[in-house]
Amino acid sequence: MDLHSKDSRVNDDFVLPDLKWADATILITGGTGSFGRKMVSILLERYRPRKVIVFSRDELKQFEMQGALDPETAGSVRFFLGDVRDKGRLYRAFHGVDVVIHAAALKQVPAAEYNPLEAILTNVIGGANVIDAAIDAGVKRVVALSTDKAANPINLYGATKLCSDKLFVAGNSYAGGYGTRFAVVRYGNVVGSRGSVVPFFMQYRDGGEIPITDARMTRFWITLERGVEFVLESLYEMQGGEIFVPKIPSMRITDLAEAIAPGCRSKVIGIRPGEKLHEVMITEDDARNALEYRDYYVILPTIDGLGDRVLSEEQSRPCPEGFRYSSDTNDRWLTVEQLRRLVGLRSDGTRRPQAELV
Ligand SMILES: NC(=O)c1ccc[n+]([C@@H]2O[C@H](COP(=O)([O-])OP(=O)(O)OC[C@H]3O[C@@H](n4cnc5c(N)ncnc54)[C@H](OP(=O)(O)O)[C@@H]3O)[C@@H](O)[C@H]2O)c1
Repeated sequence: MDLHSKDSRVNDDFVLPDLKWADATILITGGTGSFGRKMVSILLERYRPRKVIVFSRDELKQFEMQGALDPETAGSVRFFLGDVRDKGRLYRAFHGVDVVIHAAALKQVPAAEYNPLEAILTNVIGGANVIDAAIDAGVKRVVALSTDKAANPINLYGATKLCSDKLFVAGNSYAGGYGTRFAVVRYGNVVGSRGSVVPFFMQYRDGGEIPITDARMTRFWITLERGVEFVLESLYEMQGGEIFVPKIPSMRITDLAEAIAPGCRSKVIGIRPGEKLHEVMITEDDARNALEYRDYYVILPTIDGLGDRVLSEEQSRPCPEGFRYSSDTNDRWLTVEQLRRLVGLRSDGTRRPQAELV
C-alpha cells in the first residue's frame, strides 16, 4: 500500500473554486513545523501561489527555513514572527490573506498534561484568535489541523484539540455574512514528525532493545505529503463546518519496532499516562452525522443551518448506525516491509539515502 496518493485531487489551477493559485496569498500558522515545512515546499514546487506567509514564534527556525528555500521560489515567501495567543499580531499578519492553514499547536501529550494552561492558551485561545482575526481580515477559507486524539479525548492535548475543532466549526456561525468559512482536517500519527515514535525507536535500535508500551497497541498512520495533499483537497471542497477525515492505514506498534530494529528485543514498559491502546477518528456518536466518500469521511456540523451539505448519492453515503473508525478495526494495514520503506530504511535495516525523516 502506498501512502502517497497517485491521483491527488488537488486542482492544479485553483486553490479555491473561485481563486487561482497565481492570485492567492496563503498563510500557515506553525509554518516552521513538520507539517508547515512540507506544506510550504509542496506549495512552492507544485502550485506556485502568489505569496506564502509563514507565521510562528521562533526566529531561529524561520531563519533556517528561509536559508533552505530554493532561490527560484524564495521570493514569494514571507516570514512573520508572532504568537497565535497574540490577537493583534494575527490581525496584522492576516491583512490581504486569502487562505489560512492553522497548524500551530502544542502537541506533546506529556507536556500538555504537566502544563495544561499553556496547551489551552495556544491550542484553544490561539484557535479562537485565529477565527476572530480571519473573519475581521476577510480571509476566505480557513482549515485547522486536528488529530485523532481529539475524538473521545483522554488527555489534555486531545481535549484542547476537540475544543479547537468545536470553535472552528462554530466559527462559520460567527462569520455570518462576512463570508469566511472554516473547516477542520483530522488525521492520525504522521510518519516521522518531530517528537514522534519513529525518531524515538531510532535512538534505541543500536542498543539492541526497544521499549514498547503495549504489544497490542495500534495507530493510524499518514505521510506528511498525504497530509498536505488532503488539507489542500479539503480546502477546495469545503463549504464550512466539516471535519474531513482521510481513509488511512493502521500499523501495529510491534511491526514498527520490527521494521526499525529487526531482531531487536522488545521491553514492555506499559502504556503511558494519557495514551490509548487504539486511536479513534470517528466515534459511534460522530458517525450519525458522518458521510463516507471513496477516500475520506466527512463529519458534518450539527449546528443548525450548517449541516446542509448536499448529499450526492453517487459520491457519498451515510455511515451505518454503530460505525466507528478506529485504528484496531481498520481494513487497511501496513506491513513491516511497507513501514520500513516509509521510515526510509532498506530491507536489511540500513538507511536509504533519500530517507524522508523530518
Ligand atoms: N505530528 C503529528 O503526528 C500530527 C498528527 C495529527 C495532527 N497533527 C496536528 O498538525 C499540526 C502541525 O503539527 P506538526 O507535527 O507540524 O507540529 P510541530 O512540528 O510541533 O510544529 C508546530 C508549529 O507550531 C508553531 N507554534 C507553536 N506554538 C505556537 C504559537 N503559540 N504561536 C505560533 N506558532 C506556534 C511552532 O513554531 P514555534 O515554536 O517557532 O512557534 C511550529 O512551527 C498541529 O496542529 C498538530 O496538532 C499532528
